[in-house]
Amino acid sequence: MIGTADTAEPILVVEGLKKSFALRRPTLDVLMRRPVKTLRAVDGVSLSVARGETLGVVGESGCGKSTLARCLVRLYEPDAGSVRFGGQDALALSGDDRRAYNRRVQMVFQDPYGSLNPRISVGDALGEALSVHRIVPSGEIAARVGALLDLVHLPRDAASRYPHEFSGGQRQRIGIARALAVEPSVIIADEPVSALDVSVQAQIVNLFLELQERLGLALLFITHDLRLVRHISHRVAVMYLGRVVETGATEALFNAPRHPYTRALMSAVPQVAVGLRSQREAVRGELPSPVAPPPGCPFHPRCPIAEPRCREIVPALDPRGGAWEVACHLAGDVASAPARAAVSA
Ligand SMILES: Nc1ncnc2c1ncn2[C@@H]1O[C@H](COP(=O)(O)OP(=O)(O)OP(=O)(O)O)[C@@H](O)[C@H]1O
Ligand code: SF4
Ligand SMILES: [Mg+2]
Repeated sequence: MIGTADTAEPILVVEGLKKSFALRRPTLDVLMRRPVKTLRAVDGVSLSVARGETLGVVGESGCGKSTLARCLVRLYEPDAGSVRFGGQDALALSGDDRRAYNRRVQMVFQDPYGSLNPRISVGDALGEALSVHRIVPSGEIAARVGALLDLVHLPRDAASRYPHEFSGGQRQRIGIARALAVEPSVIIADEPVSALDVSVQAQIVNLFLELQERLGLALLFITHDLRLVRHISHRVAVMYLGRVVETGATEALFNAPRHPYTRALMSAVPQVAVGLRSQREAVRGELPSPVAPPPGCPFHPRCPIAEPRCREIVPALDPRGGAWEVACHLAGDVASAPARAAVSA
């Protein structure tokens, strides 16, 4: 990753964000008047991202990455916590201010097939985004659509074609152009390359890097691929069971992870050459259910160095010097131990 955004002011600051889902009760539970169960998808996430910075968010499947993304673009209403955008309380915005936030914080979805309307031409889809938010006068829309296609390296004649006429990689370029049409400050990209062929993933990743540098975007890049996150991010946030358990500058975190979960993931496979899905067995035991998360530290049932207090006291995400934060009672002790100590036998 070239460059760093260490000194930039955060544009998006998230603190203690929570989002639960009420689960549908089986008929018997309804008849027996058993209480509704809730699933804690996001359970107190704190993180920040600065202008010109890429924050990589990694975590196993089901740890709450997409729910977090949807809360940040206001597709879901969070239950608790705060989101500050450019100093404003983003969760309290309404009317024009809320529309301005929706414009400034854009999402790029994992599935470039599902996120485009098959009956609307690419030019109309981009033009619609431009006119809804009154980005340019109507007479200038065609020219701006052309400029957006240039930006994502698609030919200008793409404007008159329909989504089914494009490959997966090209459709993701269209998705990115649509997000950029409204001149956002923050892009939240939720696994934007994982549905694509391996051969085109690198092209889309490079496009993100190019656009981010060129436009000075704050980019929150969600992925389960550790190698990719290392390549693309200035900083990394590692999520486990709805929380951020460690965050820090990418190279420092990869070279000396301090949370036992991060250490287990990263030490299990030399050179961190594969993604989390194939590393899952590197961490002992099953991922606990977010319907009944463990008390205390959520990682304690799987942690090889858990102490009695870990079963009772939730470790806070504490700064350990500079911007590095770890949610572990023993992070200081772990830091000096060999990484292998955190991996299950
Ligand atoms: N709309 C919903 N209703 C009920 N439960 C949900 C809903 N959306 C997500 N969940 C649950 O919330 C938890 C977090 O899901 P989420 O999709 O945010 O995880 P993720 O980290 O994005 O996973 P993946 O890597 O597989 O995309 C999971 O247990 C999931 O089953
Ligand atoms: S707080 Fe305890 S259980 Fe949790 S990661 Fe640290 S040592 Fe392990
Ligand atoms: Mg997801």
